[in-house]
Amino acid sequence: MAVIGIIGGSGLDNPDIIKNAKDSIITNKWGEPSSPVKSGTISGTEVHIIGRHGREHTIPPTYVNNRANIQALKDLGCDYILATTAVGSLKEEIDRGHLVIIDQFIDFTRRRDLTFHETFEPHTPAHTPMAEPFDNFLRDKMSESCRDLGITTHDKGTVVTIEGPRFSTRAESHMFRAWGADIINMSTAPEAILANEAGIPYAAVAMSTDYDCWKTDEEPVTWDDILKNFQENAQKVTSMLIKTIEKIG
Ligand code: ADE
Repeated sequence: MAVIGIIGGSGLDNPDIIKNAKDSIITNKWGEPSSPVKSGTISGTEVHIIGRHGREHTIPPTYVNNRANIQALKDLGCDYILATTAVGSLKEEIDRGHLVIIDQFIDFTRRRDLTFHETFEPHTPAHTPMAEPFDNFLRDKMSESCRDLGITTHDKGTVVTIEGPRFSTRAESHMFRAWGADIINMSTAPEAILANEAGIPYAAVAMSTDYDCWKTDEEPVTWDDILKNFQENAQKVTSMLIKTIEKIG
């Protein structure tokens, strides 16, 4: 039976969804994960959930300890990692509330710890392939779950991850569109990189909450917009993850 790690997790902390839930405070070589790990079962499958920005959303994107998060899930024996993320849309057709099953990233972060390999073993450099950083088996299960539930979903999309915590300038937003990015956030690239280095299949579902600032017939994005749209649509992400876990489990 598969063991599943979840990062993001808004809504999944609900004790009605996760059975026999127990919180553990964990430390590993890389420090403390962003939140206590909530462990239990969903539809009979063992799950371990980490809140990326902490339970009270106190950790800005730059300071999320991605290495401790991924290491904790590895040490707990997770076979797969499913992540959730709020994103801005860089494409007209990705409307607020739509989900995107991410298949590529562009890493535009500048100040993150992006590797477990701080030194190489003699004559064994570790250069992890990253051509397809999101696991296709998990992505297919996520897409199927969205279809089963009738949720408007884009089966692929390139995310550009920026350093934040500020939002982009309009020039940057136009540049990311010109680069071919479909959505924008502040979290996915480092997490995907480290999950790949750790050898754990990883997939992320993005929920579009805003149109960033390239779209001049809209007001530029604010945090209040993101929060409002996220709360209105969080149930979609939760039910889709539960269905995905059932399919994998
Ligand atoms: N997360 C949600 N919307 C975003 C945006 N427009 N830019 C960066 N991160 C985001």
